Parts: sequence; C-alpha cells; structure tokens
Amino acid sequence: MLVRTLKGEATAQVPIWLMRQAGRYLPEYRALREKTGSFLDLCYSPEQAAEATLQPIRRFDLDAAILFSDILVVPDAMGQPVRFAPGEGPVLEALADRVSIDALITDRVESHLAPVYEAARLVRAALPEAIALIGFAGAPWTVATYMIEGGSSRDFARTKGWAARDPEGFDALLAKIEAATLRHLLAQVRAGAQVLQLFDSWAGVLDEAFFERLVIGPTKRLVAGVKAEAPDVPIVGFPKGCGILYARYAAETGVDAVSLDPAVPLDWAASALQPHVAVQGNLDPILLLIGGEAMARRSGQILAALAGGPFVFNLGHGVVPPTPPEHVAELISLVRKATGT
Ligand code: CP3
Repeated sequence: MLVRTLKGEATAQVPIWLMRQAGRYLPEYRALREKTGSFLDLCYSPEQAAEATLQPIRRFDLDAAILFSDILVVPDAMGQPVRFAPGEGPVLEALADRVSIDALITDRVESHLAPVYEAARLVRAALPEAIALIGFAGAPWTVATYMIEGGSSRDFARTKGWAARDPEGFDALLAKIEAATLRHLLAQVRAGAQVLQLFDSWAGVLDEAFFERLVIGPTKRLVAGVKAEAPDVPIVGFPKGCGILYARYAAETGVDAVSLDPAVPLDWAASALQPHVAVQGNLDPILLLIGGEAMARRSGQILAALAGGPFVFNLGHGVVPPTPPEHVAELISLVRKATGT
C-alpha cells in the first residue's frame, strides 16, 4: 500500500510509518545497544541491524520498516572514517582541501557496506509481504556538511564558505558523494528495499541560489540515476526546513513524494504540492512525546487537510528519545480509526 500511495494512487487507507521508529525510545533497542559496541558496530552487524529494524514492527501496526543504518555510512565507505561518540553525535576528521576531496573513493561502497545490504536482505526475508522496506541515504548537501564541518554544526560556516569560495572544488565533492550515494541506493534496492528516502536535513539553511545548486541539482541527478536502474521504486525527498522552496523541490527534482517538516502549512501543501507529488508528514515529534488530546487534535487536522490526496502519515522529523512507546501505539490507532482501517 505504501508503494502505491507514493506513486500517487488514491488508496483507501492512509499508510503510516515514523522517522526514527527504531531507536532509543524503545527499551528493547536500549537493551540491544548494551550488547553491541559502538553505534556503527551495530549498523555493520547484519543480524543486530536487522533486529533493530524489526523491533518497532513487532510492537506496532506500521506499514513500513526503515532499514536501521545511518546517513554517515557513505562518508565512512568513501574513506573518511566516522565515529559516534556517546552524547556527542558524529565525529569525522574534517575535509580540509582539494587534496582531501581527491583522496575520497567512490567505488568501494558495495564492499564496505556489504553488512548493511545483508541486514536489508534479512529484514526483507522476515517481513510480511504487506509491510514495505524503506532504504535511505543522506542527500549530498547534508552529507557534505558533516564531511566538511567534521560533525554537527550551528551555522555551516565552513561548508557554505567553501561552496562560495571554491565552487569547482565543492562541486567535485558533491559529485563524488552523488556517485557513492547512487551506488548505495541501488545496492539497497538489490537487497530488497522497495522505497527510498533522501534525507536533506540541512536543506533549510540555504538561500535560493545555493538551494538550486546544492540541493535541487544533486537531488535531480540522483533521482534520474536511480530511475534509470530501478524505475518502479518510489523516491521520497525530505528537504527539511526549506519553506516555500518545497514547491520548486517537488516540481524540479523528479521525486515521487516529499516528506514535510512540521512548519509546512497544511492547506498550502494540499494546494501547491499534492497535485504534483505524494506528501508525507508532518506531525511535530513533540506532540507525539506529549501524546493525548494535543496529539489527537493535530493529527485530525493533518488528516483532514491531506488525506484526500496521496498521503502517508508520518512525523515532521524523527521520534525523540524520551517519547513513551505507548504514544506511538495511540497515534497509529487514531490514524487507523480516522481513516476507516
Ligand atoms: O529508524 C530510522 O529512522 C532509521 C535509522 C536512522 C538513523 N539515522 C539511526 C540513528 C536514520 C534514517 C538516520 C538518518 C540520519 N542520521 C540523519 C537524517 C535525519 C535527521 O535526523 O535529520 C542525520 C542528520 C543523521 C546523522 C546522525 N546520526 C546524527 C546527527 C546522530 C547523533 C544524534 C542522535 O540522534 O543521536 C546520529 C546517530 C543515530 N542515528 C542514532 C540512531 C538510532 C543514535 C545512536 C545511538 O543509538 O546511540
């Protein structure tokens, strides 16, 4: 059902899955995490990554599983090692110059990330047929920010500065990330992924000229690359925080669907986006954390505005760690009841 909805078919039911539906808010994930080494060790252990992917599926009536991995496995595979320091987020040795870009390799994605694809195969084999497997990657701009800043950032000054000062060098970096990401997405499809999502978490910090060059351009080329090999796999784009530029993103990149952050107005999404692409979203994860009446009221508004067209219920960003798992069950049940499923 998810696949059909994302391709724009009017399905009787509204499919639901949640970004970060696996992870620290689940006690069984925290228990699994205690048995594994680092977060990346978990991502690179096929049985354990498959287990983390399946945990929310066992607990909840979801329409899709999203492969348990991370967007930063791609720079790791390109020869820029990533580690996740507890409480600190991702840490990479920041790219410094053209020489460090030239040193990146794009052709060992399939070998370095073989355990990730093995996890996908295990998950697909264990999932009921009606539940879709979602593969994903970071979009080149967002992945570049981590590679240049060496981790998370407040203002992206190094990355934007590089893009402005040395456009050819920066474009060479984006082209390398694009090439590695295309290989990563296609390998996930070969391993059983039926839907792909591109996370562009920092698309919202760019002016329109940068947005066109650094978000729309690379996304359009990636989508075309995937479509050439896997035309039936719908692609969801998530250019978080980009405001009315969602309209250009939906019209120009070739994605089948856009995932909406919580700030996108519902009526605008219905009139400006939904005629062209399927939409997914956009409950504020904090309302899932709070639960109860506030969550129910807003979910009702979202459904009223968007369930008339191709629509997938989701959050506007990932589940936050203190979320009570019972609230997830409650949300799914209210979406099922409201849409008669
Ligand atoms: O359930 C799912 O959604 C699938 C798994 C998934 C993870 N990360 C697991 C994860 C997905 C789709 C991602 C995407 C991701 N990773 C993004 C894009 C979405 C977004 O959040 O904007 C980004 C920017 C990253 C990079 C990243 N990974 C950061 C900044 C961090 C540290 C912050 C944090 O939340 O801990 C991670 C670590 C990470 N990725 C965890 C998980 C479950 C936590 C690791 C742990 O268990 O300790």
